[in-house]
Amino acid sequence: MNIAMNVPDQGSRLQRFKDATTSEHGRLDQRIMDGRPFESRERYGMFLRVQYGFHATVDSAYQDRRLNALIPDLAQRARLSDVERDLADLGIVPALLPAAPAFDLPEALGWLYVAEGSNLGGAFLFKEAAKLGLDEAFGARHLAPHPEGRGLNWRRFKADVDAIQLTGEEDARAMAGARQAFHYVHELVTSIF
Ligand code: HEM
Repeated sequence: MNIAMNVPDQGSRLQRFKDATTSEHGRLDQRIMDGRPFESRERYGMFLRVQYGFHATVDSAYQDRRLNALIPDLAQRARLSDVERDLADLGIVPALLPAAPAFDLPEALGWLYVAEGSNLGGAFLFKEAAKLGLDEAFGARHLAPHPEGRGLNWRRFKADVDAIQLTGEEDARAMAGARQAFHYVHELVTSIF
């Protein structure tokens, strides 16, 4: 990564990402909820396939060596194996996925913002899944809160990402990565539901 110190402080990077993707998030929420993912375990299985497509794609960002040096617990945050166990709990074999795109480091940060943020917002989804008898030990592992709590876990991630020095151009690529991730998930929802 080309590390530069010449970017004026524009406040929290992740707050800017949030502000820039609010409408993408709103459209995605709406599209997912229109698919009635908590109506039955069968429909929840469709949501799990979406999560599998997303987490399998973003997984390489979680495993990136340089990013793990900047965000110390990054690899442990990955939820792909939890999604895989949730699928197995429900007896679902996911379809083969196309090869994951190769991210550069700023783009990967944008994708990670979307994946980690979705865990922050996952409290509601976890409660809905509970109504189907699913929990952190069966079927909804990937929606469970981090043992230290969703809020604290999110604030640690946010502080680490905000502290990374990027040029203005790299920062813009990271934001584009966040948009790309939302669009990717939206397309998965459209193709699966
Ligand atoms: C896989 C699909 C989803 C993705 C990728 C996603 C992504 C995100 C992201 C990135 C954030 C963090 C925003 C921030 O504070 O910067 C977030 C928060 C949130 N999301 Fe989602 N989301 C998804 C599905 C949903 C659905 C279906 C709902 C509910 C209908 C939902 C409800 C929320 C809520 C309520 C928050 C705010 C949490 C808080 O501030 O405590 N999300 N989500």
